[in-house]
Amino acid sequence: MKLPELKIADLKLEFPIIQGGMAIRVSMAELAAAVANEGGIGVIGASVMTAKELKAEIKKAKQLSDGIIGVNIMFAASGFSELLQASVEAGIDVIISGAGFSRDMFNVGKETNTPVIPIVSSLKLAKISEKLGASAVVVEGGNAGGHLGSDEYSFDLVKKIVGKINIPVIGAGDVVTPEDLEKMLKLGVDGVQMGTRFLASKEASVADNFKKLCVEASSEDVMKIMSSVGYKANSIKTRFSELIKAGEAPPPANCTDCLKSCTKKFCIKDALVAAKAGNMDTGVFFTGEGIGRVNKILSTKEIFKEIKDYFRE
Ligand SMILES: Cc1cc2nc3c(=O)[nH]c(=O)nc-3n(C[C@H](O)[C@H](O)[C@H](O)COP(=O)(O)O)c2cc1C
Repeated sequence: MKLPELKIADLKLEFPIIQGGMAIRVSMAELAAAVANEGGIGVIGASVMTAKELKAEIKKAKQLSDGIIGVNIMFAASGFSELLQASVEAGIDVIISGAGFSRDMFNVGKETNTPVIPIVSSLKLAKISEKLGASAVVVEGGNAGGHLGSDEYSFDLVKKIVGKINIPVIGAGDVVTPEDLEKMLKLGVDGVQMGTRFLASKEASVADNFKKLCVEASSEDVMKIMSSVGYKANSIKTRFSELIKAGEAPPPANCTDCLKSCTKKFCIKDALVAAKAGNMDTGVFFTGEGIGRVNKILSTKEIFKEIKDYFRE
């Protein structure tokens, strides 16, 4: 199979691959630029950054790459509108948003001529997105990393949406290897978004023991927790994620109201910050169920080389 080119609005990608944005400063300029340099879209996970910090990060990514740089902003985050504004002011190439759905971002996209790509988990939202002016949709199932909008397996969900809308469909969830990519493309998607594979990359900004955990974990080590955002999320089984599941995790100690709405049963931000730092006692380690097929920490260049070699054969 030949790897197709992907066109989103006026943007032409050499590889039909979007690196999933990862909040809490996990996908930063270094990773985004590395992916953009390979011909995909590199995405900075904006949530929890200040507007000033995000602008500086976008500037840094653009200094490191002439490729396509996007931001991912969680709609559920209190700072959503401010970060959206900061991104367009900094000249971002694409806006991607998950964990909720913003109608306003489409207006910002139109006013600034910036493609907007929502992450959706139903045909209904995919159709609404097209009507509102989305340049593409990421369709993400319940086996993906990060917060989830559906329990359905991504490959099944994608089948329900491909062919039903006239904008590019990007499949996300459980795409880790070149074989997975081929399988997803054969369903008729225009491209894929991959998070877990890039989380276990040299350029991802997480502690080495988080990456080690990724390499050692099997798919059976992934469990669902109910995040305080109000969505389910996949995370590696640890003592702390079991505590959350049992409803015994401690309530937030220093709440900064980082979310528009929070159950306040525990602090997901603190738990993700702890995971990023590699703290096995208090961290929540988000990964997709495809983690079992991540056997090595690779550089972004090596990840793309594997894909290039596979599709050349
Ligand atoms: C550690 C981690 C953090 C994530 N953070 C975000 C986020 O801030 N916003 C978002 O929309 N998606 C987030 N995601 C989801 C990814 O962008 C991507 O859609 C997902 O990882 C795709 O599934 P995969 O992990 O099976 O490849 C995150 C995923 C991971 C693994």
